[in-house]
Amino acid sequence: MAEIGNNVSIAKAFLEQDQLVAIPTETVYGLAANALNPIAVAKIFEAKERPTFDPLIVHTYNLDQVYKFITEIHPSLLKLAEVFWPGPLTLLLPKKSIIPDLVTSGLDRVGVRIPNHPLTIELLSQVSFPLAAPSANPFGYISPTKAEHVQKQLGDKIQYILDGGDCTVGLESTIVGEENGEIFVYRLGGLAIDDIEQVIGKVSVQLNQSSNPKAPGQLKSHYAPVKPFYMGSLNELQKKYAHKKIGAVVFGGHSLSNESILIKNLSVSKNYREAAVNLFSFLRELDESNVEVIICDFLPEEGLGLAINDRLKRAAAI
Ligand code: TXA
Ligand code: MG
Repeated sequence: MAEIGNNVSIAKAFLEQDQLVAIPTETVYGLAANALNPIAVAKIFEAKERPTFDPLIVHTYNLDQVYKFITEIHPSLLKLAEVFWPGPLTLLLPKKSIIPDLVTSGLDRVGVRIPNHPLTIELLSQVSFPLAAPSANPFGYISPTKAEHVQKQLGDKIQYILDGGDCTVGLESTIVGEENGEIFVYRLGGLAIDDIEQVIGKVSVQLNQSSNPKAPGQLKSHYAPVKPFYMGSLNELQKKYAHKKIGAVVFGGHSLSNESILIKNLSVSKNYREAAVNLFSFLRELDESNVEVIICDFLPEEGLGLAINDRLKRAAAI
């Protein structure tokens, strides 16, 4: 099992030896290694059993550092960086050759993010390299929002888990880039599109359902529990699976009966931020409980509800 603690010096020492360390961020826990060393980066793919066509995000601690890894930044993206970093925003920017091809899966752009977590910012400012870090879960499974989630699934494959408490956003970063002067959102995430549009105006959303060369990690099936997971009208799904032990993820009011169904309410008061924080840990709790199927209905398509629905669709592979 990995050692768990909040000692930045220990984390730093392991990273300097090209070992893996799990790091806390406001979105989800990351599985970090020296982004400039392909040998260290290869260990991430190995531990996650992640295909190498799925590129990694590079994390650093301020904008000056970002310029060391990129050749240019479109003015609209710079505005977003200035307003939302540190925070749940990843920018795809043209990379310099110092970033290994393994990090970007051979693509010309590198995903860069300044995370908003004091321990990780301290760590990033103490090491002499940026950190490549995907979410710290086995490929395709639910992302971790607590140190213990990482320990359960990857504890035997990593040296140290830097414990920064529960993630305060709970959804991965929103991924944004520019092509021919147009700004695209490639992954919905912890920064809502409305917030982005308030700063730079209308953006295009280009999500993919299967494999897409622009964001190969956005696979149709992802973030998935092991148990059967169905999306749709809760009352209909309850009838359909009446013969099974059901776990339900709900949002606000509902008419399911508490006696026969294990109910997890993302937010009784219909608060999207609270729902985002709870989403992955509730899916895990149900996956680890004695229920046989998990059911869930879509949230309203607004604000962070869009990103939560995106994760739910991928979890259900629909
Ligand atoms: O919030 C987050 O973004 C978390 C924390 C740890 O920072 N990281 C995260 O990483 O979610 P990961 O690897 O689970 O998902 C990153 C996704 C990839 O699957 C891929 O779709 C996209 O980001 N991505 C990364 N670099 C890219 C690139 N150069 N071009 C296109 N897509 C890229
Ligand atoms: Mg991931």
